[in-house]
Amino acid sequence: MDSSLIKTINKLQDAFTTVGVHNPVDLPQIVVIGSQSSGKSSVLENIVGRDFLPRGTGIVTRRPLVLQLINRPSASSESPNPDTAAESEAGDDKKPDELPVPAKSEESPDEWGEFLHKPGVKFHDFGKIRDEIVRETEAKTGRNAGISSIPINLRIFSPNVLTLTLVDLPGLTKVPVGDQPKDIEKQIRDMIAKYILKPNAIILAVTAGNTDLANSDGLKFAREVDPEGSRTIGVLTKIDLMDQGTDVVDILAGRVIPLRLGYVPVVNRGQRDIEAGKRISAALEYEKSFFENHPSYRSKAQYCGTPFLARKLNMILMHHIRNTLPEIKAKIQAALAKYQAELASIGDPMDEQPGQQANVVLNIVTEFCSEFRSVIEGHSHDLSS
Ligand code: GDP
Ligand code: NA
Ligand code: MG
Repeated sequence: MDSSLIKTINKLQDAFTTVGVHNPVDLPQIVVIGSQSSGKSSVLENIVGRDFLPRGTGIVTRRPLVLQLINRPSASSESPNPDTAAESEAGDDKKPDELPVPAKSEESPDEWGEFLHKPGVKFHDFGKIRDEIVRETEAKTGRNAGISSIPINLRIFSPNVLTLTLVDLPGLTKVPVGDQPKDIEKQIRDMIAKYILKPNAIILAVTAGNTDLANSDGLKFAREVDPEGSRTIGVLTKIDLMDQGTDVVDILAGRVIPLRLGYVPVVNRGQRDIEAGKRISAALEYEKSFFENHPSYRSKAQYCGTPFLARKLNMILMHHIRNTLPEIKAKIQAALAKYQAELASIGDPMDEQPGQQANVVLNIVTEFCSEFRSVIEGHSHDLSS
């Protein structure tokens, strides 16, 4: 049920973009922040369920990557209903509002990426998407650890994703290396601030489990922009690398630095796994058995790992969207009134072109208003509570 709401809002966003209105609805985006090499790109990649992000030791992510996931039913699917198609792909034991984490990682005709800087070029090979991110990063920043705040925009179309936007960012760092500017710390903070200051950004504050939480740059920054902790999730990575006999149980229980939305421990692929080409499916299986068999986490394994993080994210996203529905509705009504006024002022029957264009715009907006209304009505009990 809830995925329909996300889809409608994304369609609305697309419709406005089509008619040249930029970002009328400030949709929630999921943004990862944290120290360099804390595992931000790895976390995002696991959520998406495909191998396509450059990861590694050192500063690998050097430009923001705005990643729009777009659910698109499989062309070969017999079902005309995108919800059904997506769910049947995701497996039987999953709740409908759960972000699917597909196990397959081969090339598929139904899944591809497209970069804003390469319009019309479809990347079906996700390894080539990674190559293009690296190439495009180097094009703007050189090869010597330089950074740039100009985002890379990538859309991924797939039957296996929910339609939402994720942002991968360079890590917080203090000491300049290579071609980095002297004020690298400030530049990266400014770059990150642009994304996390938005009141509807959902912040994944990533901290490696084998480092001290009290020194977590990501968590500190998140607390500055979200002091209430109403939109920050703590993600604890590298749990597999923690010293024997240590664990994050106290952090999870909120006894160290409490976070309203809590923490999720995860195990991503290590550097050696990446070099050996370990598949995401294998990594997720390993993660599952790691938590299920670990004496500290066994009793709470269902609250650990990437699938739980994905579920939690989705729930938070839905709350966010519900809370902003009245505002979104007002914006749509304002836009509709504006187009109607424009249409009325054009009104020269001899000059068909502009009139036709305005009509197209009006039709799109009207269509989405009614679609939106039905979605709002479907959720009215949630809204009024
Ligand atoms: P980022 O710089 O924060 O984006 O971090 P990356 O995702 O690029 O990861 C940095 C390095 O840490 C890579 O070598 C990853 O393989 C490794 N890494 C990330 N998460 C984990 C984890 O949970 N366990 C292990 N063993 N290694 C991890
Ligand atoms: Na890194
Ligand atoms: Mg990274």
